[in-house]
Amino acid sequence: MESQIPYHTALDWLAWQVELGADEAIAEAPVNRFEAAAVPVPVPNPVATPASTSAPAASAIAPPAEGADPVAEARKAATRAGDLAQLAAEMEGFAHCDLRHGARTFVFCDGNPAARVMIVGEAPGREEDMQGKPFVGRAGQLLDRMFDAIGLNRASPDAKEALYITNILPWRPPQNRDPSPAEIAMMLPFVQRHIDLAAPEVIVLMGNISCQGLLGRRGITRLRGTWQEVMARPAMPMFHPAFLLRQPPRKREAWADLLSIQSKLRG
Ligand code: URA
Repeated sequence: MESQIPYHTALDWLAWQVELGADEAIAEAPVNRFEAAAVPVPVPNPVATPASTSAPAASAIAPPAEGADPVAEARKAATRAGDLAQLAAEMEGFAHCDLRHGARTFVFCDGNPAARVMIVGEAPGREEDMQGKPFVGRAGQLLDRMFDAIGLNRASPDAKEALYITNILPWRPPQNRDPSPAEIAMMLPFVQRHIDLAAPEVIVLMGNISCQGLLGRRGITRLRGTWQEVMARPAMPMFHPAFLLRQPPRKREAWADLLSIQSKLRG
């Protein structure tokens, strides 16, 4: 049967889907997510999982009230969270950030929330979006090797040797584009509450987006290797491992930053 949809209309629809991030086929038949039952929120923490919560089904999330200020709403929601599981649930139900519509999963954290070191990355990429965990693609594997070299590991149950990992954004931006300033601003209250609740001794800011969010400025080449303060805690900006994969000679500077973190932990 000949298609009734005009060629240019079909092309516009396709472009719209790609913009939302629906850029690959993963199953033979479409799945209607609006009819799917609530599934557990992936709060993937093999070490010390914040009590797991139920993800609201897409249809259960009320659309944002017209005229509401997303940043103010995020502050209210983040303040309501008394623990990490509640924070995950508040974020998961936050309707103001459109990135949620294009992402396959909500990516909250990985590692041990009791860790002395908390890494704040940028946003999930393709692998992270598939697995529901931060830093599990190639960049994440490099990140694991880097921190292993100073005796820190996301799978460790011992807080002294552990890592806790999150991102500025819990949803993958379409085609891994940089998040907009508005998206960063509306998710920031959640990241700040996340830091409050995890209470790490040291924060690692991975790349420009996390510096933008938590320091209010970019310029990782100049910032890296210099101790900063985030919410009254020492914070070390570092080159993002994805950048190090493209620029291996810069690993020397990353190694210096890792040693600086190690010496801060040794007091
Ligand atoms: N890059 C990030 O900043 N975070 C991830 O989770 C994956 C890649």
